[in-house]
This record gives sequence, structure tokens and C-alpha cells, in this order.
Amino acid sequence: MHPEEFYQSLAIDKSPLVALRFNPYYLLLGGLRHGRPQLEGETYFDLASNDYLGLASDRRVHQAMTEAIREYGASMCGTPIATGYARILAELERQLARFTGLEAALVFPSCYQANVALFSCVAKPQDVILVDHYAHASLGQGIKTVGCKVKPFLHNDMEHLERQLAATAGFRQAFVVTESVFSTEGSIAPLGVMVDLCGRYNAIPVVDDSHGIGVLGKTGRGILEEKAIANYPGIYTASLGKALGNAGGMIGGKHLLVEALRYSCPGLIYSTALSPGCAGGVLCVLEIIRNEFGRIGAAMRDNHRRLLETLRHRQFDLCSGPAPIAAIHGGSAENTISLAREFFNHRILTTPFVPPSVPDGKGTLRLILGAKLDDEGLKSLMRAMDSLSPPESTPQAPVSDECFRRPAGAGVPAGVLRGTLDFA
Ligand SMILES: Cc1ncc(COP(=O)(O)O)c(C=O)c1O
Repeated sequence: MHPEEFYQSLAIDKSPLVALRFNPYYLLLGGLRHGRPQLEGETYFDLASNDYLGLASDRRVHQAMTEAIREYGASMCGTPIATGYARILAELERQLARFTGLEAALVFPSCYQANVALFSCVAKPQDVILVDHYAHASLGQGIKTVGCKVKPFLHNDMEHLERQLAATAGFRQAFVVTESVFSTEGSIAPLGVMVDLCGRYNAIPVVDDSHGIGVLGKTGRGILEEKAIANYPGIYTASLGKALGNAGGMIGGKHLLVEALRYSCPGLIYSTALSPGCAGGVLCVLEIIRNEFGRIGAAMRDNHRRLLETLRHRQFDLCSGPAPIAAIHGGSAENTISLAREFFNHRILTTPFVPPSVPDGKGTLRLILGAKLDDEGLKSLMRAMDSLSPPESTPQAPVSDECFRRPAGAGVPAGVLRGTLDFA
């Protein structure tokens, strides 16, 4: 292929964005003003980021990051196995293991990297991986690296999972992979049932708690606390860049697993260590959660409830579960982007998911309010929302859980697993 032709073959079709004269992606944000993002001199409400507890803009966290940078420098400029394993990283691993109730933990530069690197270290081509078909792109990418049999199960459908598990006897090892909180819809995996099923069929559960850590559970410790799972027998991953307000990822579980990954996981040993600043920031956030989750968690849930009430009142077609994520059905890509534009015009940032991130016709506009706004901020957000008008073509249906159970073949998220899965 001629290089010209090659580069042409990479061209992205932006026609819906061009037609709507609005591109909600890669918005060029300025700094924060009173904790809120700026865009071309205007202040916006951030309902797009995953800052569930509002701690990314907390001064104590900034202070802790600065102190860590002063002590260790801006970067370790080395991989953890070589020169990059600072005392503060070892401390963060200890504290994350303690926080989540796991035996041990490893810290990665991002959870995406952790998920992509994990599976090739623990699974073999003779294995089978059963995966919730809504699982995050990074899990899909990681699973594909193994070259083993991959079988999706219907979203949160434990009967379907059990049927799949019953057919795993001929494989060396079975894994069951899920997210805790599904980030596009806000549904929560029945992890307790899943762990029991895994026990019955000798399978290893793998859960990505990126949207659960710092959010779920009585004290914010995530899905294992939420589902009262003691001595979790599986593999746990999570992002440090959502409720934990920084950047980075973790893998946790048994000592034997963590020690094996420490010496074999390419995503860890060939990549510059997490920056000390982020390690200091996460340590500070863990301390804040330990001391203040009662107050901050209540504010997050209260704000979420008020957001849902307002959206329902405005007749938006919602899909929202127990997690603090509000998802509006947008239908087509065009409709979803035009919904995002409507919010944007009222100075509200949202996240539109369109194909291939979601199946065709299943566009979703995600809103996460979290604990970011105080009472006054909340009132002004509600005023902005009062003048929103749902586009005529937006379906207006009662809120239901139906959105969490789509039929087999209805689509695979994130495009990553598309075409590689059979639901038999
Ligand atoms: C479920 C899930 N897993 C993993 C990731 C990646 O996390 P990180 O941003 O730490 O790479 C994300 C982020 O979008 C996510 O939503």
C-alpha cells in the first residue's frame, strides 16, 4: 500500500460531529475556578469526570502530592523492578491492600495498563475466560492477548454464567471476568453470587472495581465491602484515577499472585513507575476516605438522587442503577451527541458514548455528579438543568432495569471484543 493510501485508510468519520457543529471529545479545558473547569473563559459544571468524591480538587490532596514530589522528585525515571520502587510506592501497595481487604497489591501506572498486562501472565492458551459482555475495553484487550477460548455471558446474568461454567471441565483453568460497577450504565455485578459460582466450578473470579473503589460499601472500600465478601479468592483490579482522585492502577489478591506479577508482568516491569506525586495523593485520599466517608459518601448519594429527580422531571429516558452514575438513553449517535450539545449549551459537561463504544442505536449520555458541588453549586446546576429541553426524538420511557438485560448478540461494548465472541 502506498503510504498516502495507508494514512487515508486511518481517516476517522466525523460526519455526525460536523453535521451537529459540535465535538464533545477532547474539549480543551482550562484550569479550575472554584473547583469547576473553565472552557474559553466560561465556567462549566463537570458531570463528565469520574471524580466521585470531589477529592481531585481537595487542597489536602494537592499538598500531599507536592510533599511526595519534594521528597522523591517528579518521576522515578525508572521501572519499579529497577530504580523506580520508592518507599512511598511500597507504602501505597500496603495501604491499598489494607483498604480493599486483600492480602497484597501492586501499583501500576494505570488500570488500563494493569488490565491489558494481567491476563497473559496468569492465563494460558488451554484456559477459558468467561466475560460479562459489557466488560471494559481494557479487560477485552487483555483477554485477547492470551489466545485461549473466550466466552461472553449476558450482562450480570448468573444463570447464563452458570451454564457457561458447567461447560468448562475440559479446560486447564476457567476465569470469570467482570466489572463491579459498569461504567456506562451504573449497574452493579452480583459479585457474591459470581464468587460462589466460581467456587463451585473451580474458576478464578476477576473483578475490575475501578468505579466501585471509594464509592461502594459502608466505608467506601468498594465492591468487596459492598457485597460482604471476605477472603476474596480471586483477582482484583482498580483505577486510582476515579474516586481516588489521582492516576494509576492496581492489581490485588493473594500474595502468590502479586509476587508472581511483580516479577513477570510486562505492564509493570517495562514501564516507568507511578509518579511519587500520585502515590502521595492516593495515600492522602485513602486517609480522607477512612475519616470522612460518612459525610462525603452521603453528599455523593444525595447529589446523585437530586440529579436523577431533576432528569426524570425533565422527562429524560434514564438507565440508572444503585451506583452514582446517571445514563440517558440517547439512541443514535447523532441524537446522543445532540443531547450532549444541549447540556453543553447550558454549561454542563457530560460524556456521550456512541458506537463502537456501545452497540448501534444504544448511544448513552453519562452524567456523574459525585460529591463535587456544595449546596449553592447544586442549586445553580439545578437551575441550569431546569431550562434543558430533551430533543423531540429522545425516547421518553419510564425508568426501568430493562436496560441492564439486553438479549444475546445485542452488541458488545467498546468494539474490542466485537467479532471475536460467540454467545453459545
Ligand atoms: C472499568 C474501567 N476499567 C479500567 C479503566 C482504566 O483505568 P485508568 O484510567 O486507570 O487507566 C477504566 C477507565 O475508563 C474503567 O472505566
